[in-house]
Amino acid sequence: MAEMMDIDGNGHSYSSKGKTVLIAGNPPSAAKAIPWVEKYRPQSLNDVAAHRDIVDTIDRLTTENRLPHLLLYGPPGTGKTSTILAVARKLYGAQYHNMILELNASDDRGIDVVRQQIQDFASTQSLSFGFVKLSVKLVLLDEADAMTKDAQFALRRVIEKYTKSTRFALICNHVNKIIPALQSRCTRFRFAPLDAVHVTERLKHVIKAEGLDVDDSGLTALVQLSNGDMRKALNILQSTHMASQQITEEAVYLCTGNPLPKDIEQISFWLLNEKFADSFKRINEIKTRKGLALVDIVREVTMFVFKIKMPPAIRMQLINDLADIEYRLSFGCNDRLQLGSAIASFTRARSALVAAAQ
Ligand SMILES: Nc1ncnc2c1ncn2[C@@H]1O[C@H](COP(=O)(O)OP(=O)(O)OP(=O)(O)O)[C@@H](O)[C@H]1O
Ligand SMILES: [Mg+2]
Repeated sequence: MAEMMDIDGNGHSYSSKGKTVLIAGNPPSAAKAIPWVEKYRPQSLNDVAAHRDIVDTIDRLTTENRLPHLLLYGPPGTGKTSTILAVARKLYGAQYHNMILELNASDDRGIDVVRQQIQDFASTQSLSFGFVKLSVKLVLLDEADAMTKDAQFALRRVIEKYTKSTRFALICNHVNKIIPALQSRCTRFRFAPLDAVHVTERLKHVIKAEGLDVDDSGLTALVQLSNGDMRKALNILQSTHMASQQITEEAVYLCTGNPLPKDIEQISFWLLNEKFADSFKRINEIKTRKGLALVDIVREVTMFVFKIKMPPAIRMQLINDLADIEYRLSFGCNDRLQLGSAIASFTRARSALVAAAQ
């Protein structure tokens, strides 16, 4: 046969048409290859950082066998999917995959699926194994805000009809994309962005487990850049670790391509003090040397303008100008012209400051 070949010379044939051509176990580096976001996904409800009140409530309801339909919403990387998976693990043990129907945006979830697949799953009697305390099943609809309106309407009746044997858990980022009728059938929990304390705590746990060399400034930078998104924090941590042995503030900012706070301070100083041509030359030079994007510079400089002291009217005008520049940059307008515009705005603000002082 043409597609059979003798790979190892010992007469063992492998079909090249077969799906897997794995030869002897997992390579030792397999564990290393798992992204840390998955490796450190909370396994139990206790591991979920922050949102203590929500998690405790869900935990209690699960223990008492009184789980309502759930609607978890909030920005990315705050632990919504992890929480529900931990609930499933608590209810059904390690075999939870068999007891839940998990559908996310990558599956087809049009009206046909709601009618067929969800209804089939919900209407069949669940088997009660010894370790399963509860025989209600769980339908997990991740990224539910991407479901069509028709499918959501079809779900209304399905939820009601099978409440006895099934609980639905809807997860989404934008709660206003879920039709009100579905919202009213569920108990809503909002997962806010994680605060700095909890991100730090969780990062420290991972740093310890991986034996990383992270200094205080590096940790602060990670927390700052993550903006309450734990997934982002772990991803930045892992990519910085791959790029450099020591995880310092500089390494973190370099790895993500964000301008360092001290660069922003320097640029703001030029903008506030130098002549137009000098500012332009210097900012252009640092931009090229450090590979910074103008849009990042404008965004960070705006944050800087929030912090420094100046009359409110001048600050408002300046922030407005910078916001316009950011808007134009998002349409791919010319970088050099927009940099000129930013410097011009600062020059105008400076003249206004001088006039105000007189
Ligand atoms: N509260 C948390 N405690 C601990 N780890 C967390 C928490 N939130 C997020 N993480 C980490 O981030 C990863 C992603 O979390 P998860 O999938 O739960 O986010 P999500 O809220 O479902 O986000 P999305 O809206 O993008 O689906 C997890 O694998 C985990 O490593
Ligand atoms: Mg999710």
